[in-house]
Amino acid sequence: MSKGLLISIEGPDGAGKTSVLEALLPRLKEVYPGQVITTREPGGVAISEQIREVILDVDNTAMDAKTELLLYIAARRQHLVEKVLPELEKGNMVIMDRFIDSSVAYQGAGRGLEQTEIAWLNAYATDGHKPDVTLLFDVDSETGLKRIAANGEREVNRLDLEKLDMHQRVRKGYLDLAMVESERIKLIDASQPFDKVIEDAWQIIKSYL
Ligand code: TMP
Repeated sequence: MSKGLLISIEGPDGAGKTSVLEALLPRLKEVYPGQVITTREPGGVAISEQIREVILDVDNTAMDAKTELLLYIAARRQHLVEKVLPELEKGNMVIMDRFIDSSVAYQGAGRGLEQTEIAWLNAYATDGHKPDVTLLFDVDSETGLKRIAANGEREVNRLDLEKLDMHQRVRKGYLDLAMVESERIKLIDASQPFDKVIEDAWQIIKSYL
């Protein structure tokens, strides 16, 4: 097993997880003895960033749900072996903005693909690696979508353009998963004021350091 610490952050679109991560980064760098690496899915390395372009292109409206799943899985595999595992091996902390649980919530609960097949594909792509801890930033879908609309700097991608009911299924998918994997997945109420969300996230991460 790897020596570093693997943290994933998850949540529906508009939960604010990326901003929380940015805010916490200086504190983490101060206390963690190794390097703190932040990275994202889909993406993080050149090949996976290229796959990201294809998946999230707003013009790719013809994309089949299984094609979408397989592209996320392919991007995951490449990112993990090329970047994440080598960094963990060096004893570093890797914080992933999305990982295995996004497939369960989006392609499973959201698109309605078979969860047992997604679990198998995730295990195949990761050789069974899972995060030491996952922070799930939960927000109701209306608030999440409003935040995306209000944030002019954020790229609007193909998944953001899905209808409200898809976002609601994704949220429920995450909450169901958090009940099943309550040891690993820690729920954070992301509708609270930003400072409180940061503090909740910090308290959880601190207990793994
Ligand atoms: P981001 O906006 O957090 O960078 O994520 C890109 C989009 O991709 C977001 O809408 C969630 C979606 N996604 C999936 O549907 N399945 C996955 O496995 C991953 C990693 C992301």
